[in-house]
Amino acid sequence: MKTTILNASPRKNWNTAELLKSAQKGAESVGSETEYIDLYDLNFAGCRSCLLCKRKDGQRNHCFWKDDLSPVIDRIYESDALIVGAPIYFGNPTSQFFALMERLIFVALSYDDYSSYFDGKINVGVVLTMNAPKNLYDQLYAEKFDALLKPFSFLKGSIKILPVCDTLQVKDYSKFNMGGFNEAHKKEVRETQFPKDLDAAFRLGIELLKL
Ligand SMILES: Cc1cc2nc3c(=O)[nH]c(=O)nc-3n(C[C@H](O)[C@H](O)[C@H](O)COP(=O)(O)O)c2cc1C
Repeated sequence: MKTTILNASPRKNWNTAELLKSAQKGAESVGSETEYIDLYDLNFAGCRSCLLCKRKDGQRNHCFWKDDLSPVIDRIYESDALIVGAPIYFGNPTSQFFALMERLIFVALSYDDYSSYFDGKINVGVVLTMNAPKNLYDQLYAEKFDALLKPFSFLKGSIKILPVCDTLQVKDYSKFNMGGFNEAHKKEVRETQFPKDLDAAFRLGIELLKL
């Protein structure tokens, strides 16, 4: 069993990363080999529309663009599970998340009949972290993100979203012009809810390998 874990947050040690590391431990607890990659360490952009992946004589499910992401895409297609984490920026996952999704999914898309070239199954977990509290997530984001993540259905597995709300954005709010946030509330959520979110991420790492 193999699980690929991708951090699409620029911060390597904060909310998204901590959750992903917990998911990694979950996957390892049931014997999966894991690989954890910080996407912001890699040099890549979104799909360049070179269309080499659509050539009649071309390899399928493979990105031909020579940069840091193409070998990662190859490894994802050899995985049983993929876990991607991203913070929400201006109502959407980060730009690196979208760049990854474009590249990963376009290589599986048939322009003959819009089916998927991929004949395996990769279960996908998406961990989304945000300032928005859970009620705002349910109201504003839940449906939109479900739709937005539909391209992952080309990987033919289940798609599970773990929203992690009301995150602690900085350790000490008093050092920043962030008067719009209630620091005491943020710290309380961090102490009471975030450990449960870490646990949910751990369980996600296990669940994706059992689906
Ligand atoms: C540029 C930027 C834009 C953001 N936009 C939103 C937003 O639209 N909605 C939201 O709920 N949180 C927003 N946030 C907050 C982050 O999503 C939140 O702090 C997240 O947990 C950060 O993840 P990290 O700790 O892994 O970096 C934004 C943060 C940044 C830096």
